[in-house]
Amino acid sequence: MTRAIATESRPSARARAAAERARSALGDRNAAFDDRWLRALSGASRERVDAVRAELAELVPYEQRIRAEQRAGGRSYYAQFRAPLELYALVRLLAPDHIIETGVSSGVSSTHFLLGLRENGRGTLHSIDLPLSQRGSRFSSRESPVVLPPGRQSGWAMPPELRAGWDLRIGPSEKVLPALVDELPSVRIFLHDSKHTPAHLLFELRTVRPKLSRGAVVIADNTVWTGAAFPRFAREVGAPVRRRRRSDLVALTVP
Ligand SMILES: C[S@@+](CC[C@H](N)C(=O)[O-])C[C@H]1O[C@@H](n2cnc3c(N)ncnc32)[C@H](O)[C@@H]1O
Repeated sequence: MTRAIATESRPSARARAAAERARSALGDRNAAFDDRWLRALSGASRERVDAVRAELAELVPYEQRIRAEQRAGGRSYYAQFRAPLELYALVRLLAPDHIIETGVSSGVSSTHFLLGLRENGRGTLHSIDLPLSQRGSRFSSRESPVVLPPGRQSGWAMPPELRAGWDLRIGPSEKVLPALVDELPSVRIFLHDSKHTPAHLLFELRTVRPKLSRGAVVIADNTVWTGAAFPRFAREVGAPVRRRRRSDLVALTVP
């Protein structure tokens, strides 16, 4: 069932506290909610952003479950995607029919997209992942935290009930993304979090571009490794690059 966004006239303190509870339950100090970034990307008013921010208190049990699952998988720290709460809020504000993300790993970003879609009562998340597997039975800190624990699949830390209706495609985005984009009428949110090379990022962005609707939000993580690729795409589209605080997580809104 769709839930409308409930705005209040003086909401900020309650909204801030809700986001902080969710962040703390997830256990990542980098996940502090950036309302300015979100307003710049969505064009939503402060009141609307505060209203979805206040909803984040309801995510606390999910954040706790993700964290517990990651710990059980030998990851004592969280280091996957630093703006999961903003992903939830973006989905609530934009009410997308189709979201594409590349790079799933344990499923932190996927979980937050799916929670937003569930609240909206509509829309589909299409995710692409080419997972790597942990070498031994115990996770070694010398390995990348994105590897799958033995016997687990992409999205392994997600609450399993969220998988219903999730379009997860396993394979290299080089192959899977063009076919997926062909199938969809339009894309409202695109998140790149897969192979972080300049050529690959540009390939993904240019592949999805023909289906990006006006107002679509395009996000790319770890752009410290992808050089000029994102700013170049932003110039092609004619949009400013919106950096999340001083990090290398960047985004733009299609004009
Ligand atoms: C940084 S992790 C994704 C983290 C995820 N967004 C989250 O919030 O938990 C990157 C993922 O992309 C996968 N990957 C790497 N190269 C890929 C490719 N060419 N196509 C699809 N997935 C790829 C990795 O194996 C890994 O699972």
